[in-house]
Amino acid sequence: MSDRVLPQKNEEYGSKEYWDQRYNLESEEQSFDWFKSYADVADLLREIVPVKSSRILMLGCGNSTLSQDMYEDGFKNIVNTDYSRVLIEKMRHKHAYAPEMEWHEMDIRDLKFETDTFDVAIDKGTMDAMMTAKADVWDPPEEVVQNCNREVDEVLRVLKKGGVFIYLTFGQPHFRKRYLERPETTLEIRKIGEAFHYYLYIVRT
Ligand SMILES: C[S@@+](CC[C@H](N)C(=O)[O-])C[C@H]1O[C@@H](n2cnc3c(N)ncnc32)[C@H](O)[C@@H]1O
Repeated sequence: MSDRVLPQKNEEYGSKEYWDQRYNLESEEQSFDWFKSYADVADLLREIVPVKSSRILMLGCGNSTLSQDMYEDGFKNIVNTDYSRVLIEKMRHKHAYAPEMEWHEMDIRDLKFETDTFDVAIDKGTMDAMMTAKADVWDPPEEVVQNCNREVDEVLRVLKKGGVFIYLTFGQPHFRKRYLERPETTLEIRKIGEAFHYYLYIVRT
């Protein structure tokens, strides 16, 4: 990753201005995958999402190649969202060859989709970007709690009954379960990796 795209403070990852500025850079960073690439998790995703025609919501797609790689693996029905307009325009242009994929400038805390319309929702590192406020990680600020809960509320609203929300993060269960556990859903957690661990949170509606 080039120094030009690194923020001066970690908190900047939580601001739309940071992401707009990062994605605006000409010719730099064609793509960047946070945490893991599709190849690293493809077997797991194919197991969790056995139906290739599933309608999949990508939350905060960034310029990751995850959607493109999934598309090439047969998951054609992917609806991508990100709140950075410049990013969404670039990604729509870049993926013009893949007409089944959609690209929407949208805040994941306020999804503009109908209730019960997706089979799958995927978040790879996006909730984490909303957790970068400078604070005690054991006692996150109310704003962080609200933002994460709003995302999960919205995801559960747009998922069909029997749907699945897949969240990939480095965040350990103690810091993430509080947003993902709901009385009406089940939560499974899988640990990935050798020396440094990542976690796959699987919420089923
Ligand atoms: C850490 S990056 C992850 C990108 C991608 N998912 C990946 O795996 O590489 C976070 C992305 O989420 C977007 N984002 C952050 N907060 C968002 C929000 N509230 N609504 C929509 N997009 C958001 C940012 O613009 C950025 O593209």
